[in-house]
Amino acid sequence: MHILFVLGSLRLESSSRRLANAIRVSLPEDTESEVVDGRELPLFDADLESQPKPRSVQIMIDQVDRADALIFVTPEFNYGIPGPLKNLVDWASRPPFNSPLKAKPSLVISQSISPAGGSRAHAQLTAVLSATLTPTYLVPSFTIPAVHEKFDGDGQLTDALTQMRIDATLPGFLHWVAQEANRSTSG
Ligand SMILES: Cc1cc2nc3c(=O)[nH]c(=O)nc-3n(C[C@H](O)[C@H](O)[C@H](O)COP(=O)(O)O)c2cc1C
Repeated sequence: MHILFVLGSLRLESSSRRLANAIRVSLPEDTESEVVDGRELPLFDADLESQPKPRSVQIMIDQVDRADALIFVTPEFNYGIPGPLKNLVDWASRPPFNSPLKAKPSLVISQSISPAGGSRAHAQLTAVLSATLTPTYLVPSFTIPAVHEKFDGDGQLTDALTQMRIDATLPGFLHWVAQEANRSTSG
């Protein structure tokens, strides 16, 4: 199984990247993963959609295409999802209703330094993904509050509760991804 982590934050030392790293090392050994963010992408512009697409866009679309599942890890910016993440989703959402995002099993995780853990961004991203026909794993919202307290100076996850939530969520998510893959090959 191949998982693509989609980050909402561009900065290299971001909590989103740290969380993604903590989840990556918690994945079963036979699961591959890679990480993408919106750093290299131009702003979405329908004039740029005609073939060939900008190289950075095509690379990202190919990453989404070959992933069995997506795990979004995003902060909340001004009560919403960060612009670069929305831009990435907009590029990946084409052609509408038949894009690489269609039927791609996904998990949405938000984080913030605030007690709400980016819950508004979580809800917004889930709504955005419904527009792209991207199914999201049904668990109680995976939001990480006070995220700055969860890592040590080297960026390693030190919070036992967050690790427990990761460990409690991953098996069910991966099982669902496998079920979805079987469903699409048998039907
Ligand atoms: C421009 C900006 C706007 C923000 N707005 C919010 C917000 O509306 N709600 C919130 O909970 N946190 C907000 N924050 C805090 C970030 O969500 C928080 O610092 C997060 O952990 C940053 O994630 P990162 O380390 O992955 O970049 C904002 C931060 C920035 C830079």
